[in-house]
Amino acid sequence: MAPGQVDATAVREALKEFPDPETARGIVETGQLGDVQVDRNTLKLRLALSTHSAILRDEITERLVGLLKEKFPSLDNVSVELGVHERPPEKIGQIGLSAKSVVAVASGKGGVGKSTIAAVVALGLSRAGSKVGLMDADVYGPSIPHLLGVSGRPEVVENRIQPIQVAGLRMMSMGLLVPPGEAVVWRGPMLHGAITQFLRDTDWGELDYLIIDMPPGTGDIALTLSQLLPLSGAVVVCTPQDVALLDAVKAVAMFRKVNIPVLGMVENMSGFVCPDCGKRYDIFGSGGARRRAEELHIPFLGEVPINIQIRVLGDEGRTMATLDDPTVGPGLLALCQTVVRNLSSQPTETGPLPVLSV
Ligand SMILES: Nc1ncnc2c1ncn2[C@@H]1O[C@H](COP(=O)(O)OP(=O)(O)O)[C@@H](O)[C@H]1O
Ligand SMILES: [Mg+2]
Repeated sequence: MAPGQVDATAVREALKEFPDPETARGIVETGQLGDVQVDRNTLKLRLALSTHSAILRDEITERLVGLLKEKFPSLDNVSVELGVHERPPEKIGQIGLSAKSVVAVASGKGGVGKSTIAAVVALGLSRAGSKVGLMDADVYGPSIPHLLGVSGRPEVVENRIQPIQVAGLRMMSMGLLVPPGEAVVWRGPMLHGAITQFLRDTDWGELDYLIIDMPPGTGDIALTLSQLLPLSGAVVVCTPQDVALLDAVKAVAMFRKVNIPVLGMVENMSGFVCPDCGKRYDIFGSGGARRRAEELHIPFLGEVPINIQIRVLGDEGRTMATLDDPTVGPGLLALCQTVVRNLSSQPTETGPLPVLSV
């Protein structure tokens, strides 16, 4: 090849080390890099990504184009045609769940927006094109059905509980099995049995992600889950004030004890921007979670402000619409991306990571 000239072989060679975001293996080796066509200064190529990487599609394309333009400055037009790489999940854990990543969303205490964040992450990934299950394991306060506007009892077909299909995702909640307003007292062994049964007997199908809304506080369920499944990681949600952070630190310690990697911390209810005057009020303080995450050497995943729409849409059972809200939607989607990015690179004990805020 003459200097300055580009051909398909050189492009393939240059992309050998380019990692598939899901497996971190090279896209040439995995067969994800398809046709490469070079016509003078124009390059067209096909790249197939698995549905697990759906939310990172644009970011990956941009990075790939950037790399090629840097390696081959003579190219003035690089276009990528994206396709789908079929890579079904394998059965994991002793209950035989078919999922690629299982993410627990947890907090030290209730009322910090854990269920809202769990729902938003599940909805964001699903909207991008991933196959997502959302399991509400918060036996003490199952609120996912309310946040997604779902009621009624799930169907049972051939002894398997059918998850509720809502906004493109498959959802199951303890709340759908217990009449509303009725208190449930769970003791340790019962709780263990219920969670095991709940996971095993739900017909989840093949999933890219199972997002689990954990009950706040105690480690019982985290322990049960860690025995049943290889959890990919936990997202810890907290609010910025010191009392909440103390509990979040305990949640991080608990996950470390049961060897579940902590994907990072989210600061929810971080400041309030007055819609009338645009002034920001830090009602619960601000930046506390970011500092604490740094001290604990875990990634900071982003901050979500106090926003009236999040509360209103949650109460209306329309949490999905928060992703379309111009003030908080883009930040919430960025949070979903960061979770996936951190999953693929598994930076459990990390150095600096990209910090996103909304
Ligand atoms: N960033 C936010 N801004 C405004 N309201 C929020 C925000 N996050 C959560 N909420 C509201 O706070 C309440 C508690 O949230 P929820 O997700 O149920 O918390 P948890 O699961 O931690 O108990 C809900 O009414 C929810 O709509
Ligand atoms: Mg909740």
